[in-house]
Amino acid sequence: MTPTTYSTMWVLWILTMMLPRFVHGFESYDATMVEFPAPLTESDFNPKAGFQVIEFFSPYCPHCKSLAPIWKDSWETFYEEGRRQNISLLQVDCVESGDLCKSEKIMGFPSIRLYGPNGFIESFPKYRTMSKDNILDFARQAVDNPDDMEDQQIGSLSELVTAEKFANLLAGKGQQPYLLSFWPAKNARSADGNIDFKNCDECDTFQKGWKTLSVKLAALDISTGHLNCESSAAICTNLGFSSLVKITNHRVDRIPKVALVVPEKTTNNFFTYDGPFSTKMSVYEDFAKRTYFNSRIMTISSEEIVEITQKEYKLSGTHEKKPQKLHLVYSYNRETAVPEDLQFLQSLVDPVSKISNAYLYITEEDLTPVVVQSFESMYEMINYNTSEPEKRLKEEYIDFNIMPDNPNFFIFRDGDKIPHTFQGYSTTELRNTDTIMDWVREYSLPMVNEVTPDNFAQILAFNSEMYDGVAIILINTIETELTNNSNEHLDKLRVGYYDYEHVRMGKMIEDVSVKRERRLKKANRLKEKGYKKSTILEAAREEILHEDNKKVIISFLDISKYSSILNKLGVTHVLSEDDIGKVILYDKYTKSYHKKDIFGNDFIAEPYTIRETLSSVFLSQKPARLSRIAERLFGPLFCESLKNFDSLVGVSGYAIFIVLILGCLKGIKICRRKRIGKRYKAKRDVIGLLGKNGNKKSLD
Ligand SMILES: *[C@@H]1O[C@H](CO)[C@@H](O)[C@H](O)[C@H]1NC(C)=O
Ligand SMILES: *[C@@H]1O[C@H](CO)[C@@H](O)[C@H](O)[C@H]1NC(C)=O
Ligand SMILES: *[C@@H]1O[C@H](CO)[C@@H](O)[C@H](O)[C@H]1NC(C)=O
Repeated sequence: MTPTTYSTMWVLWILTMMLPRFVHGFESYDATMVEFPAPLTESDFNPKAGFQVIEFFSPYCPHCKSLAPIWKDSWETFYEEGRRQNISLLQVDCVESGDLCKSEKIMGFPSIRLYGPNGFIESFPKYRTMSKDNILDFARQAVDNPDDMEDQQIGSLSELVTAEKFANLLAGKGQQPYLLSFWPAKNARSADGNIDFKNCDECDTFQKGWKTLSVKLAALDISTGHLNCESSAAICTNLGFSSLVKITNHRVDRIPKVALVVPEKTTNNFFTYDGPFSTKMSVYEDFAKRTYFNSRIMTISSEEIVEITQKEYKLSGTHEKKPQKLHLVYSYNRETAVPEDLQFLQSLVDPVSKISNAYLYITEEDLTPVVVQSFESMYEMINYNTSEPEKRLKEEYIDFNIMPDNPNFFIFRDGDKIPHTFQGYSTTELRNTDTIMDWVREYSLPMVNEVTPDNFAQILAFNSEMYDGVAIILINTIETELTNNSNEHLDKLRVGYYDYEHVRMGKMIEDVSVKRERRLKKANRLKEKGYKKSTILEAAREEILHEDNKKVIISFLDISKYSSILNKLGVTHVLSEDDIGKVILYDKYTKSYHKKDIFGNDFIAEPYTIRETLSSVFLSQKPARLSRIAERLFGPLFCESLKNFDSLVGVSGYAIFIVLILGCLKGIKICRRKRIGKRYKAKRDVIGLLGKNGNKKSLD
């Protein structure tokens, strides 16, 4: 062999060894060994062969051509993971296998569909971009829902609902809750039949899913029915579904609608699903189950609440995800309650059910001990550092959080040790759906959020008046050991988060006392100067805004799944196993992020570091915060984009640039303050430390 052959072999060998590390995950799998599969044909297409994500394409369509490399890349990334989970990525060429695509009712190219052990499950959502992340996400969620594996050999159990039947249901004569779907069809008796839907691309898919859902819900004692809007025109028009009655615009798709009727009630018994349309039936299943549950307004006990606050979120390698629930609890005293209080709760069923994973409850127990117990468990957690003085639950924290008066609303979130209380000081406020729902929405994110391509932007933008930052911890659940490791880091992030909460609450209380002192001084000054009594009184009564902001959202990013999400923030380095446990802190206010902690080290999830860094970024005074931003501009994150700038204008350019930036930030801050002030004034009441505190007395 010549030396050239030797070196070629070496290069090849090195490449073979390294390739898997670059491709994905940290597996010893070698993508070069398995060949990218040829498209399925009629003879080897089997819709029930385990889980399959199938792309139906035409070699001539431009979109298919641009998807081709993305598809191949997704296949390569997913091959090994898919093999373990029994999911394969396959293709069908619709020019070669035209009949197959016709019998599968493929409407356009490219079409991506998920098939399971019982055949078709769902189509790739229309509104989503067919990117690698999204395609893999679509594939992974196949196994999220093990129920999809149930045997579905039975036909649809959905019943044709006539006008008469519908009237009976609305009159409260149904025996069971009914989940209804409204179809743009005429005389479709059986939900199994081959219905010729017009102007409804998704109807066919929806119909198949509806059959599956009808079987699943029957097991939960929820009946299903369908109405043909073209035949039951009056009902559909009345409900606002007139697009399903007849085609008015040929270019616009018609979409089936879903609603739930609950039994034994004659008012507040009809609930429309108005979330985004989906062909994924778990969406409607959740809607039906939760709305029905909430409509019955169940009692919750102190013990159950304690369990909720003590739950621990654990990552798991299997893709099974337990929803983190939000529990809105109405605490009241039967003796002093008036019927209107309970009636009012009925008006909350609909809006509460529209918040993901939110549940409505009632209790007659005094929740004070539960709240205290929950806070105490938080303090147990954050006293981890023996060289620091013991942190104690301050009276003020509880004072602000608990109003002994009944009735009262509480929010408890799964795994959150900080309960929240709505403290309206008047019955009017306690019976204002909008005010209460605004408050509930402030807490509508789970305690720990997984960032995905779908929710990333939403999490970063979530309620910026209350939440100043998002801490994103990098984790990896591709194998057990890494999952364990990731869980440890996540636990530390949580401890650090509560440690920060302790500091933040202290700061909020301090701010109020400073303001109060200032007000007192002002009143005294006016008195000394001999102002009118009314002017002095006015100054003394000046409202003190008690803010509850500068909070931080905690989240995690599974780098084995969505490593490219961070590109959107500008993080371009390839994430690896070494990054597990690192924290990226997004500052919503400056729209920039920190990769370093306050001490200048890599930001890792150590409680002490987290507390110190969060406090310094979000709670420190303006100058400190601004100077840190300037520092960051010179940091590695921005160097690349500033490189050209540097050669162009030199050091003085930087100086001008910084001055400009500082000016802009100052401007933003002033505007923002005004906005916040306005918002609070508009609400008339005062924002309490741990919720809305409208009780002026407790502030003075
Ligand atoms: C994968 O699917 C095949 C065929 O559908 C089945 O026999 C096998 O048990 C499945 N394996 C796992 C791990 O689910
Ligand atoms: C992961 O943690 C669980 C429980 O915490 C333990 O049972 C398991 O053995 C650990 N696995 C590995 C690979 O460390
Ligand atoms: C405990 O706190 C001190 C400063 O108060 C700090 O230097 C030290 O790193 C902390 N230790 C731990 C384990 O967090």
